[in-house]
Amino acid sequence: MRVVVSLGGSVLAPDLDEESIRANAEAIEQLEAAGVELGIVVGGGSIARDYIEAARELGENEIALDDIGISVTRLNARLLIAALDGLAAPTPVESYEAGLKAMRRGDIPVLGGVTPGQTTDAVSAALAEYVEADLLVYATSVPGVFTADPDQDDQAEHISSMTPADLVDVIVDTELIAGSSAPVDLLAAKLIERSGMRTIVLDGTEPKRVVDAVLRGAHDGTDITPDGNRTSLPAWERE
Ligand code: UTP
Repeated sequence: MRVVVSLGGSVLAPDLDEESIRANAEAIEQLEAAGVELGIVVGGGSIARDYIEAARELGENEIALDDIGISVTRLNARLLIAALDGLAAPTPVESYEAGLKAMRRGDIPVLGGVTPGQTTDAVSAALAEYVEADLLVYATSVPGVFTADPDQDDQAEHISSMTPADLVDVIVDTELIAGSSAPVDLLAAKLIERSGMRTIVLDGTEPKRVVDAVLRGAHDGTDITPDGNRTSLPAWERE
């Protein structure tokens, strides 16, 4: 089974906390030991936002700011690589092709950003499609997809399973409201819709949850499947 895991910066290393990086590395090692072929994509978190904000104040243009964001995601990727003790390709992988090559060699590719104008949500969806993954998992700081942003709308309801087209609709609606943020961005949702990639969005603040979701299908997040139905998942993804 081939799985791409997207680790938001706030999930991997809140405040550069090494215990958290170690716990994420252990979860990845458990999946690898269970025979799962992995590709990992790491986000920039609050450190990327701080760098981007400082450079914006200094007058950098948006593409240059994206490049700074990519650099920070790759620094985070280096921390995870350091904790993975030789299981991963030794430096952050910078393209989908290099990611596939690393997997074929038996190394775990760890990517940060790839190109300006997007986020690592989209990198994860693109990598999953490129390597023909069976499953894409977004380990985020929220417990799945909601009908609206729960921070902005107390009527927001958690969605346990949905189609990729529903995901796109929910994200378009959420992003139309100022200050709202969705757990996965719109470009990523469109890529998931186009590829029909099976996807889980879950709260990854406890890395063990990713292991349970991948190996046993046990999770409290959101399943995104072509027919919107959780029971359509293969046995290894079902509770
Ligand atoms: P993130 O993927 O962490 O951005 O990349 P985000 O979704 O805004 O942050 P989270 O999910 O809250 O952690 C950090 C920044 O790096 C640039 C973008 O500027 C992005 O905001 N980036 C990342 C790119 O330009 N291209 C990429 O492929 C990835």
